[in-house]
Amino acid sequence: MCGIVAYIGEKEAYPLLIKGLKRLEYRGYDSAGVALLNGDVNVYKKKGKVQELVNHAQGAKKNGTLGIGHTRWATHGAPDDLNAHPHVSGDGRLALVHNGIIENYALLKKALEKEGHVFHSETDTEVLVHLIEEIQNRDNLPLEEAIRIALTRVVGAYAIVVLDKNDPNKLVAARKASPLVIGIGENEFFLASDATPIIEHTKKVIYLNDEEIAVVRRSGSYDIRTINNEVQAPFIHELDMKIEMLEKGGYDYFMLKEIHEQPTTISDCMRGRLNADEGWIMLGGLEEHVNRITKAKRIIIAACGTSWHAGLIAEYLIEDLARLPVEVEYASELRYRNPIITEDDVVIAISQSGETADTLAALELAKEKGALIYGIVNVVGSSIARITDAGSYIHAGPEIGVASTKAFTGQVTLLTMMALSLAHKRGTISTSYFQQLLNEMSNIPKKVEKVLESNKKIEYIAQEIKDKPNALYLGRGYNFPIALEGALKLKEISYIHAEGYPAAEMKHGPIALIDEEMPVIVIATNKSAYDKIASNIQEVKARKGLVIAVVTEGDEVISQIADYTIEIPDTEEPFTPLLSVIPLQLLSYHIALMRDCNVDQPRNLAKSVTVE
Ligand code: M6R
Repeated sequence: MCGIVAYIGEKEAYPLLIKGLKRLEYRGYDSAGVALLNGDVNVYKKKGKVQELVNHAQGAKKNGTLGIGHTRWATHGAPDDLNAHPHVSGDGRLALVHNGIIENYALLKKALEKEGHVFHSETDTEVLVHLIEEIQNRDNLPLEEAIRIALTRVVGAYAIVVLDKNDPNKLVAARKASPLVIGIGENEFFLASDATPIIEHTKKVIYLNDEEIAVVRRSGSYDIRTINNEVQAPFIHELDMKIEMLEKGGYDYFMLKEIHEQPTTISDCMRGRLNADEGWIMLGGLEEHVNRITKAKRIIIAACGTSWHAGLIAEYLIEDLARLPVEVEYASELRYRNPIITEDDVVIAISQSGETADTLAALELAKEKGALIYGIVNVVGSSIARITDAGSYIHAGPEIGVASTKAFTGQVTLLTMMALSLAHKRGTISTSYFQQLLNEMSNIPKKVEKVLESNKKIEYIAQEIKDKPNALYLGRGYNFPIALEGALKLKEISYIHAEGYPAAEMKHGPIALIDEEMPVIVIATNKSAYDKIASNIQEVKARKGLVIAVVTEGDEVISQIADYTIEIPDTEEPFTPLLSVIPLQLLSYHIALMRDCNVDQPRNLAKSVTVE
C-alpha cells in the first residue's frame, strides 16, 4: 500500500525514480509524485497513474542526483494533486514520502497549528513533515536526530524517506510496520518499499527493521540506529530475483502471465520438498519444529482475502488427512477479539506479500501468547517472514497483478504438502495412501497445463456473463473455498457483484436470487458429494438460472444439465482446488477484459495492504 522509491548517487535521479514508481505502481495508483534536489527542491505531483505524473512534469526542471518518489493508495484525504506525496515542510527545506498511517495526526496537527504551521493537504503525512521541521528548527538538529525525536511522538505505522535541502549529501529513512529496503550500489543507494525497483541496479540489500532509522550518504557510507539511538549492525542480503520476473513477457497483462506461470510455480514450490519416487516430503520449517507441530492441540490459521481462502482449504486438508483440529480466522478479526491462544497452539499466517498489516498484528498477538508462529509467505525477506519462528516460502516469484493467482496455488501447494507431511508423521494415513497421494501430487503441474488449454472455451463462456450484474459461485467440501475465491476474483477485477456459497446452503436463502439473469458457476468435481451437487444444479435450472459447471473430464451427468461445462482432469479429491481454481481465474480475467477494466490494477485496491 503506497510505494516509496528514493535515490542518492551520481546518476540523474528522475528517470530512476519514474522507472521505480512504475514497478511499484501495483502497491497503489491514486496519485504519484517526486521531489528532486538540485539546489532547490522541485516537487511534481499528480493525481492518477505514474504516466500522468510524467506528462505533467514534461518540460519542467528535473535534474538532480538525489530524489524521492511516491505512488499513493489514499487513506487520509482524497486522491488528488494536493494530497499526493511528497509533502514539504513549511519552510520548504524538507520533503518527505510516507507509507502507513500516523494515527495521532489530528492531535499533532492541532499542536503544530498553535505553533503557526499551516497545512495544505488533508493527509496525516503532511503533519509528520511539519513535526520534523518544528523539532529540527527549534534546536537546530541534524535531520536524522529531528526524525528520531519526531518518531518517538508518533503513533501508527510508517516507512518514510526524507530529503533536506540544506544537506544535499544524504537521505534519511525510517520504518515501523511498513516495509523499506535499502539497495547498496557503488557510491549510490536506492531505497524502496520492496526490491522490485532495486533489482536492476544492485543485488545487495538491507531490510530495515521496525523502529530503525537509516542515513545513507553520497560518499557511500551509511549507518542505522534504532529510534532509541542504539547503533545497529545490519545484515546485507543477496537478492535472488531476475528482472524478467518483473516484466509481462509477451502477455497483455501480468494477471494472464501469472495464471499461465502456474504449472511452473507449482513445480517450483514442490522442488526439493517432495519426491514421489523416493516417497518423501520435507518442509524445512516444519522439520525444525516437528514435535511442537505434530503434537499441537490446535492449528490456527490467520490470513486475509485470497490467502484466507487458501487457509480454508488447509482446514479441510489438515483435518481430513492429519486429523489435527484447525481454525481459520480473518486476521483482522482475530487481532481485535480476545482469542484463546495457548502455548500448545501453532498459528500459521498465510500471506503473499508478507506485509499485510492485520496478518502481522495477529501474529504478534499469537507470539505474545506463546504459540509457535509459522509463516507461509511469497515475498522473501518480508516482515511476516522475519517475525515468525519458522516458515516456508512458496517460491512463486513476484506477483504483480493485484488479483492473486499464482500465489494462491503456491499457498495451496505448500499447505497440501504440509498436510501430507503431518499426516505421514502422525500416522493418520496409510503408507500406501501416502505414496498414492505423492504420486498424484507430482502430476499436478501437468494437469494445470491441461486446464489452461480450456482458455478459448472459457473466453467464449465469459461473453455470457460479462453484462450480468451479479453472479453466484457454488461449491462443496474442498471446492467451497474455491467458490469463495472465484467470486472474489470476479468482483475485484470486473466489478460484478458475486457471492461464493456452499452449494447446499443455497436453499437457505440465495436461491431466492435465482432467475434467468443469474449466472451460477458450480464447481462440481467432488466425488464424495457428486449426486448432491447434481441436485443443486437441478434446483438452479428449475428456476431458469444459467449454469456454468466445472466438471471432471468425461463427466456425463452434469454436462447434460448445465448450460456450459469446463472440464478439468481427474485427480485425488484433496488436490482438486489446485485445478478447479484455474478456470475461475481465467473466467474473471476474460470478463474484466470484456468490460474494459484494468485487470492488473483494479480500482480502489492495492497489492500490499499495509494499513489496517
Ligand atoms: O499479501 P496477502 O496475501 O497477505 O494479501 C491478502 C489480501 O489482501 C489479498 O489476497 C487480496 O484479497 C487479493 N487482492 C486477492 O486477489
